[in-house]
Amino acid sequence: MADMQTSYEELPYSRTPFAATHPDTLATVALLHGLAAPPIKSCRVLELGCALGGNLVPMAAGLPEARFVGIDLSPRQIATAQELVDAVGLKNVELRALDILDVDRRFGTFDYILCHGVYAWVPSAVQDKIMRICGELLARNGVAYISYNTYPGFHIRAMVREMLAYHVARSGETQPQAQVRQGRGFLDFLNRFVRNPEGTYGLCLKEEIATLDDESDTYLFHEHLEEINSPLYFHEFAARAAAHGLQYLAEAQPWAVLAELPAPARQVLDHVAADRIAREQYLDFLGGRLFRRSLLCRAGSAVKSEPAAEVLRCLRATSLVRPTNAEPDLRSDAVEEFCTAKNVRLSTNSPPVKTMLTTLYRAWPRSLPVERLVASVREQLVGSGLPESEQSSERLTNALLHCYRARLVELHTFEPSFVLEISDRPLACPVARALVGSEKLVPNRRHCSVPLEELDRLLLPSLDGKHDQAALRQVLRDAVREGRLEREEGQPIPEGEALETLLTDTLEASLRRLAGSALLVY
Ligand SMILES: C[S@@+](CC[C@H](N)C(=O)[O-])C[C@H]1O[C@@H](n2cnc3c(N)ncnc32)[C@H](O)[C@@H]1O
Repeated sequence: MADMQTSYEELPYSRTPFAATHPDTLATVALLHGLAAPPIKSCRVLELGCALGGNLVPMAAGLPEARFVGIDLSPRQIATAQELVDAVGLKNVELRALDILDVDRRFGTFDYILCHGVYAWVPSAVQDKIMRICGELLARNGVAYISYNTYPGFHIRAMVREMLAYHVARSGETQPQAQVRQGRGFLDFLNRFVRNPEGTYGLCLKEEIATLDDESDTYLFHEHLEEINSPLYFHEFAARAAAHGLQYLAEAQPWAVLAELPAPARQVLDHVAADRIAREQYLDFLGGRLFRRSLLCRAGSAVKSEPAAEVLRCLRATSLVRPTNAEPDLRSDAVEEFCTAKNVRLSTNSPPVKTMLTTLYRAWPRSLPVERLVASVREQLVGSGLPESEQSSERLTNALLHCYRARLVELHTFEPSFVLEISDRPLACPVARALVGSEKLVPNRRHCSVPLEELDRLLLPSLDGKHDQAALRQVLRDAVREGRLEREEGQPIPEGEALETLLTDTLEASLRRLAGSALLVY
């Protein structure tokens, strides 16, 4: 098994922005639970185990008045992250190749402390230090984010991990890539020849193998072939936090699985799990949870266990689903279908919910202030025959909260800076421009990873605010001449005026796609 000290030097981690770690998410959840978290525009953020800066750097680019400190044990990863900071010209990020064990009070205090994908993968002394750092360096009303593998769900994943460890150790391979190859070959063997594939064991195994098939080699290696991977129960995590003067606030993202817990289940929980920590633990038992993104704050802060609907009025909302009909019937009680990015489909016949989700979808990638959204939904339902009691502001706000808990919408404290209008000299997010040459997905201003079409990938480096549209058409013309740009299904590239029309249309479509992905800025 690999040694953490060197493994990230040999196989660096992926560069991913995690929206769940963004100070905006943390501040939103804090507000919903009654904690007045520090305003994010000028906040101070510490990320422990920031790897290649894929999370911290786009965050810093989007919040230029905030200050960011990132540390990681791996000098190679920190050097690569620093190259990105320099390429983008950011002045609000400090990166240090440092052991978490060496962080002390001289770092000062932070409004938000982020530790994603680290806690369960480090020795217990480092786990303890992570909690200590949060306990000592978190500012008043600050929020810490720690993600970790958790039981009972991880028991199933651990079964695969232990078999992989046995096989890879026997193979004698020592290099990460060779170990991954061995591991993938072994998973394929299991998948093809597991006895009784329809039995409990076979079904669990096959589901885990399918998940790993979709994951990168980097993930497979660092999740399953590293020496340390120590999941824990939620109640153990909460007790460790309490020992460092911290308390559980909430999860960074609601767990959609539990949005609709039936009344009899709630009654049992009320009986056996009156306190918050026990209740969360039983919910993990019910849902088979294997990963948590838990938020902590200082012990003693008064926090509400349930999110409060009245707070929504000062927040903004975005949609996580789209209607599958181009023109959904919003005002009648006809059933309409909505679809998530992962193609999960759900239906509703509720006019307020249909109207709310569709209005948010049409505003995407912009968010809408909740007050404006509620007013717009009420306006759209005028004359629909829906009783006033079912479209009151209070009712609509509660419905929106329900959608948030079911992960159909996201809530925010702020609107990131990006533009939808196409200027003559378009400017793309500098971090996306810097990464487009090396990454399949690039971070956008909503702190999400965005896939790009080949043409958009080709244009992005030139969207530097200096190339006007004529110069951008020239970029495309050169690409056509050099054979770097082809049309769909081998259609011939026209010449003369027809080519110019095609270039103009193609450029416009590409810029619209990039703007619609929150990738253009001013
Ligand atoms: C699984 S990666 C996660 C990286 C990043 N947070 C993400 O989720 O994309 C774990 C990171 O923690 C770093 N790390 C592990 N032990 C550490 C320690 N003691 N001090 C600082 N960083 C450490 C590793 O170098 C690695 O970059």
